[in-house]
Amino acid sequence: MKTVAVIGAGAMGRGIAQVSALAGYEVILYDVFEPALNNAITLITASIDKGVARGKIETATAVRAQNNLRITHFLDDAAQADLVIEAAPEDLRVKHDIFARLDAVAPRHTLLASNTSSLSINSLAGSTHRSDRFLGLHFFNPPHLMQLIEIITCDDTSATTVAQAKEYVGRVGKTAVFCKDTPAFIVNRVARPFYGEAFRLLGEGVADVATIDRLIKSLGFRMGPFELIDLIGCDVNLAVTQSVYDAYFQEPKYRPHPIQRRMVESGRLGRKTGRGFYDYHE
Ligand SMILES: NC(=O)c1ccc[n+]([C@@H]2O[C@H](COP(=O)([O-])OP(=O)(O)OC[C@H]3O[C@@H](n4cnc5c(N)ncnc54)[C@H](O)[C@@H]3O)[C@@H](O)[C@H]2O)c1
Repeated sequence: MKTVAVIGAGAMGRGIAQVSALAGYEVILYDVFEPALNNAITLITASIDKGVARGKIETATAVRAQNNLRITHFLDDAAQADLVIEAAPEDLRVKHDIFARLDAVAPRHTLLASNTSSLSINSLAGSTHRSDRFLGLHFFNPPHLMQLIEIITCDDTSATTVAQAKEYVGRVGKTAVFCKDTPAFIVNRVARPFYGEAFRLLGEGVADVATIDRLIKSLGFRMGPFELIDLIGCDVNLAVTQSVYDAYFQEPKYRPHPIQRRMVESGRLGRKTGRGFYDYHE
């Protein structure tokens, strides 16, 4: 595989584009929203420059990565890659539409992958005619720092596709963990109670945001639940919680909390809007 396309230039898409370009792939980054593409290039460049300044990335690698990265407003362009990784919003209809369109124009050999946090890989593969060349490649936030990638197979994913995915994960310097197509796979399934209990404590007035985060960190976690939600995005966190809840046919332990919806409706999405549970304006 030589070319990797990334669909969606948000927090995850731009990170996946960055690690792929640094690993030597030619990268095509696509988004429906033009400013997101320009913003992504600015942020990727800043992140790579920081890596060079800290001695973590060699100058030649940085230059090659920047030369290998291009943006496009045309999905058909992106579909020409050997591997397409979709990182659009966590919405089944949006993702179905993207994959059906990619499948219609991509060459036969192209692998299609989704970075979905919680949606069924079988369901997404069903919008294509290439479920043998379809899989989940789930990165974590921020992709350039987080080591793990979940490889999720659907019922039809071929052994060749898995081998190619493993090769990609190895080349971008990450560690693969293999998952079945169950709601939220491994990490997000385990993380649901981490967020859910924190929301219940907050909602019942047991403790405030900073106290809950501080207590959790005192147990050895790197970030508290609210700091982490601000990093992920309150909108993304709500969409994933809702998706897991629905996937388990409204299992009460996965029910979203009203505070999650209130945060999204008030536009306090976290770091990306400057304010979530904490204020990032400074
Ligand atoms: N944020 C996280 O911590 C995290 C971690 C792992 C996985 N994910 C998953 O990654 C995916 C993207 O999440 P994100 O946090 O990057 O979201 P985001 O909101 O930061 O970015 C989404 C991007 O998709 C673009 N977009 C919207 N509709 C599109 C379309 N039809 N075609 C192409 N692009 C479109 C938007 O303009 C935006 O730039 C979701 O499936 C999410 O569940 C997120």
